[in-house]
Amino acid sequence: MTVSTYDDIAEWYDSWVGTHSMHEDPYFPAVAALMGEVAGRRICDLACGQGRVARHLAGLGAHVVGIDLSAKLLEIARRHEEAVPRGIEYLQADAQSLDGEALGTFDGVVCFMALMDIPDLAPTLRSVARILQPGGWFVFSILHPCFHTSQSGEMNSPEGAVRTVSRYFMEGYWRSDTRSGPPGKVGAYHRTLSTYVNALTDTGLQLARVSEPRATGDLADSPSLSGLSRPVWAEVPAILVVGCRKGTPKQDA
Ligand SMILES: C[S@@+](CC[C@H](N)C(=O)[O-])C[C@H]1O[C@@H](n2cnc3c(N)ncnc32)[C@H](O)[C@@H]1O
Repeated sequence: MTVSTYDDIAEWYDSWVGTHSMHEDPYFPAVAALMGEVAGRRICDLACGQGRVARHLAGLGAHVVGIDLSAKLLEIARRHEEAVPRGIEYLQADAQSLDGEALGTFDGVVCFMALMDIPDLAPTLRSVARILQPGGWFVFSILHPCFHTSQSGEMNSPEGAVRTVSRYFMEGYWRSDTRSGPPGKVGAYHRTLSTYVNALTDTGLQLARVSEPRATGDLADSPSLSGLSRPVWAEVPAILVVGCRKGTPKQDA
């Protein structure tokens, strides 16, 4: 199995995301809104990391399987499960090559802030489609590809904070020393918006809803460790949230 770059930064990542609940996460509500009711549903938290989303969903009554490539992050997730059992199953697997038969079928797959960490999008989406039951949902959030590239940043202007972006069309791996979060540590994979939308469509995942949460109030005013709460995010969206459905097979007339 491929070694995860997150193994090297697992402890850092765990403390970076902190101990707050997903209720307090500024951007999770936009994801939750697209997932809808989760109680009683079988849900896969894809690229679950140390399991913060998995724990949240299990707390709401979902049957959760968390999948991640990083053995170290899964170790932290399993420690939580041992301390407070929530019935979460954790599997180490590469999202780009999930074995659908072994994993069964899910009512929903959520992938929170991770698709841009995975090198190959098309095989990952095919994995998602394979493990979803027909009509099942796939909800993901990513760093907004229009505002995070290898050459993006911000500057102050008399009118306020301005996001600067170039190299939008340059897809592929990038890493920036000026970034405080994962793109500064392990880098990320940039893709244009059209690449995301077309890859979903090619996989038979039908786009249902898109959301671009705007930072308001404290979130826009007070700089945070994550770097995702800054005035500039009241001007342009920091993240993109997408909800899709797996099509149901056509019935013969
Ligand atoms: C930014 S973290 C997000 C983790 C988690 N969803 C959260 O919100 O805390 C990105 C995650 O993607 C995982 N990842 C990267 N490549 C992967 C792959 N090919 N298959 C499965 N997980 C992968 C990393 O190990 C890491 O846990």
